[in-house]
Amino acid sequence: AAETILYSFSSSAELNDALAHFILKAQKEAIDKHSRFTVAISGGSLPKTLTALIGNPGVKWDKWHVFFADERVVPLDHSDSNYLLAMNTLFSKVPLPSSQIHAIDTTLLDDLEELADAYEKELIHEFAQKDSARFPVFDLILLGTGPDGHTASLFPGHELLAEEDRWIAYIEDSPKPPPKRITFTFPVINHAARVAFVATGEGKKEVLHDILDEPEKGLPSSRVRPAWPGHLYWFVDDAASALVRYK
Ligand code: 6PG
Repeated sequence: AAETILYSFSSSAELNDALAHFILKAQKEAIDKHSRFTVAISGGSLPKTLTALIGNPGVKWDKWHVFFADERVVPLDHSDSNYLLAMNTLFSKVPLPSSQIHAIDTTLLDDLEELADAYEKELIHEFAQKDSARFPVFDLILLGTGPDGHTASLFPGHELLAEEDRWIAYIEDSPKPPPKRITFTFPVINHAARVAFVATGEGKKEVLHDILDEPEKGLPSSRVRPAWPGHLYWFVDDAASALVRYK
């Protein structure tokens, strides 16, 4: 696996600016290589960290294809929806064509397995013919981590941590509400060209130490290790990295 690159900033404004700069670099490499930029995002505080992209003339929104690393199974207009959060925070404010926002359309199907399958099919359609790989290779996956070390909707001790085949899975027993969720699996996350975590605030300092300094604990976020030639980045603030020895 590639090395982990940790950037720590004293303010969230600096973090967000550096993250925007990093995203523009990833965007350029992706467009040079295959004329589009495939990005997956998660929920929580992540979309807000991307607001430095709004109005930035370097962003080629017409080349972006956005996917959801995880989604809560609630209607898309529900206040718990990661799609709604991303739309309200970012995508309604930028010229990203709606056909390039690949929502997990929770309104289509009641059955969680069918919903996961439908999103997996959408990914196969978008990636498999183009890359003919066993797993999709995202240009960038942006993740958060919870104080328990979960990422996307992959929670400590859950059977999904061992998933090796599926691209998209569902859970019905999320310890973080709401309980029903759809999520990328580790094989998808770890095939990405780049994965970047974003974590801020004192409330994350213990878990960041565990994730980065004690990977043998096996927390879900420690299991994010993009396969070579992929890269793993952490964008954090000094409050969150206070206890991290790996610097
Ligand atoms: C979700 C998220 C989840 C989130 C982390 C971190 O839908 O709940 O995708 O994985 O990214 O819980 O959340 P915060 O950034 O808000 O701490």
